[in-house]
Amino acid sequence: MSRVGEKYRLEPGHHLDRYELLCPIARGGMAWVWLACLHGKAGFEKLVAVKTILPQYATDRRFQRMFLDEARIAAGITHANVARVLDLGESRGILYLVMEWVDGDSLAKLQRAVKDREELIPIDVALRIVADVSAGLHAAHELRDPSGAQLGVVHRDVSPQNILVSVNGIAKLIDFGIVTVRDRALDDFHAGLLKGKFPFMSPEQAVGKPVDRRSDVWAMGAVTYYLLTGNAPYGDDNEFATLRKLRGGAPPPSLPPMYPSELNALCKRAMARNPEERMATAAEFQSSVEMLMVQMGCHRVSSDLAAFVGHHMGDRRDARYKAIAHAVRVAADRRCKVLLSRSMAEALDLDGLEDSNVGIPRTIPMAPHQEDDETRTFIPRSQRRRTRLAPRSACVLAPSCGEPFRAALLGVAVALSFAGVIVLLRILFLTVGGGVSH
Ligand SMILES: Nc1ncnc2c1ncn2[C@@H]1O[C@H](COP(=O)(O)OP(=O)(O)OP(=O)(O)O)[C@@H](O)[C@H]1O
Ligand SMILES: [Mg+2]
Repeated sequence: MSRVGEKYRLEPGHHLDRYELLCPIARGGMAWVWLACLHGKAGFEKLVAVKTILPQYATDRRFQRMFLDEARIAAGITHANVARVLDLGESRGILYLVMEWVDGDSLAKLQRAVKDREELIPIDVALRIVADVSAGLHAAHELRDPSGAQLGVVHRDVSPQNILVSVNGIAKLIDFGIVTVRDRALDDFHAGLLKGKFPFMSPEQAVGKPVDRRSDVWAMGAVTYYLLTGNAPYGDDNEFATLRKLRGGAPPPSLPPMYPSELNALCKRAMARNPEERMATAAEFQSSVEMLMVQMGCHRVSSDLAAFVGHHMGDRRDARYKAIAHAVRVAADRRCKVLLSRSMAEALDLDGLEDSNVGIPRTIPMAPHQEDDETRTFIPRSQRRRTRLAPRSACVLAPSCGEPFRAALLGVAVALSFAGVIVLLRILFLTVGGGVSH
């Protein structure tokens, strides 16, 4: 890594203002996402997700602008089905975005787990998820400025990787990293950069035409198709072939015949080549899905989703809790050491321990992680084996051994030991000195 990249490299234990990084959650195409602990007044602690630009792009103005856009726009969206943005900051030249931590996995991972068992996501579960995400997406599209004028938000990256399903069965849209608003000149296409996930990209986005909210409706149709069949409508293993099909005007494939024809028609309409023929809004898409659910007698609520997610992702969840519990313990030990070295420094009257990142070793023992090939998400190595059930409380911050009281006691003990040694030396000196003078 270049010297510049090295400067922006983060490690567990680093502080970005009030946020202490605990362990990496995932690495996306543009950013690292960390699990972090917000330290507030009177010992207040909360787990959050912190996103930072990858070190190699940290000084690139375009990436910085996209990051700031993501923060500014996503922060304005308040909806249960959109991960909340809580804060934006800059510490030591590193821009960071703080979000609610979604305790769950992406739809891509859920689909993979279901496929591994050679099963399909049940139709009612799939429709509940897409209806919920569409509601969140609509809230984003409806975002207005303080004068009430619609901003014309388009997410542009609605895909199974960017939809998380929490252990509580709530689907959340994330990653407004390439979001755009009306009248924003899109320089990325002309700069030769086509951003977004090809298999879920609308045809107009794939050819670099201006996009509006109906482009995201297309993506919702593609996500629905993917959830029901396990495959993206235009394939996802060869990006060039996918792009060729999209640009060439190939119609979207039909759902397998086991699905109701009304559902097939719904997917086809959402993925109509001409945006005029699609549902005009994500809300319209949502209500079409919900009407179909009523017709089909599907009644699924979040607890059903939670049970489904628990059934397929239970091992991952348990491994995640184990890794988090470990990271929290390591962080508590680290704080304990820092407090101890502070009390020693005070006892010895040393300066220079004000820096919040001082005392953090470069190599910190942390939960063993492995890089998950497809999504570049870090999962604990223990995930390879079946893990024993970790206690649910793993998510709650463990009582810290670095509590001020304990650290103060340690400080006093160290000071007393010093004093004892000095008294002993003094007695020895007096005894020996007395002997010599005689
Ligand atoms: N709020 C969150 N809570 C939990 N995990 C999250 C959260 N936000 C992101 N992640 C995890 O981090 C991954 C990468 O995040 P994100 O998609 O925002 O980054 P990105 O670099 O913009 O990704 P890409 O460009 O590859 O789509 C997600 O797929 C998800 O696994
Ligand atoms: Mg993403």
